Amino acid sequence: NKSIYILGIESSCDDTSAAVICNGKILSNVVATQEIHAKYGGVVPELASRAHQQNIVPVIQQAIQQANIDKKDLNAIAFTRGPGLMGSLLVGSSFAKSISLALNIPLIAINHMQGHVLAHFIDDEKQQKPPFPFLCLTISGGHTQIVKISSYFNMEILGETLDDAVGEAFDKSAKILGLPYPGGPLIDKHAKTGNPKAFKFTKPKVDALNFSFSGLKTAILYFIQKKTKENPHFIKENLDDICASIQYTIVEILFDKLKKAVNETGIKHVAIAGGVSANSEIRLVLKSYEEKLGWTTYIPKFEYTTDNAGMIAIVGYLKYLENTFLNQKTITTARLKV
Ligand code: KG4
Ligand code: ZN
Repeated sequence: NKSIYILGIESSCDDTSAAVICNGKILSNVVATQEIHAKYGGVVPELASRAHQQNIVPVIQQAIQQANIDKKDLNAIAFTRGPGLMGSLLVGSSFAKSISLALNIPLIAINHMQGHVLAHFIDDEKQQKPPFPFLCLTISGGHTQIVKISSYFNMEILGETLDDAVGEAFDKSAKILGLPYPGGPLIDKHAKTGNPKAFKFTKPKVDALNFSFSGLKTAILYFIQKKTKENPHFIKENLDDICASIQYTIVEILFDKLKKAVNETGIKHVAIAGGVSANSEIRLVLKSYEEKLGWTTYIPKFEYTTDNAGMIAIVGYLKYLENTFLNQKTITTARLKV
């Protein structure tokens, strides 16, 4: 039983992260979150690339140190190939290639969205591995997908957003309310003490298992503009209720489609993944369907939901076992499908 050590590197958006995994168990998972974007209300690509440049060396050093291994013990380097911001991806991929050359070990390219889904297979007592096939609602700042997973590398997208991602819906709504980026966690926090039925927003009508969130964002914008014209303190006086109502609407949109997917496929093993799966209401509602609808649900450990290199390292490990390596010429890709 040999120990296989994989270094994972994630730099697709605004988190610089490195992790070391040994036979599926996380030894370290260091994340440097870029605070610089908060005041701009969203990720500024150029600033993200610069921050990755600054963070990448210390983050990797820390990951190797915390794992308590020598870099010569590493068996392979796994990095995020895409999808993501091109400049951000280039920092991680160039660095990964350099280490692979220097240590003379193989390079493994990882699809970021596969990383979110397969984070469920990190060996950790705080989470349960789903059996195949299972459905995964993958929700992040860039994606909203219902995926059918038949085996580690056999994934089929059953439905996805036609415009904004659900994370964007959270973040853009938060921006309208004057909350800093990323606003998703703040909406979650305020919603806890608000009334979800205080305000009503119409849900979009979208075909099949697809989603749409751009209309909701516009509806919220007009609603807030109208209300603040009547009462300039409207947001301040009603923040918790507004957040709870927005969250309630988003959660309904997501679960309407997820229920449809379960009914159509007959698959009752249901997982969530991606940054937005950190949302407390989404976790509660999913869990409640165990009793209500007979689902078995899989909720990833909190730190494996938002962008992190642990999820890249686990896919690296699974690909290592399958001998799926890459040559040094592989380029990064900003738009990659699962
Ligand atoms: O997966 P992730 O870290 O990055 C991408 O790949 O996009 O997801 C980030 C997204 C952001 O939109 C953020 O607002 C959202 O996840 N998010 C949340 C929560 N925590 C993070 N949205 C709602 N509730 C939360 N608790
Ligand atoms: Zn992500």
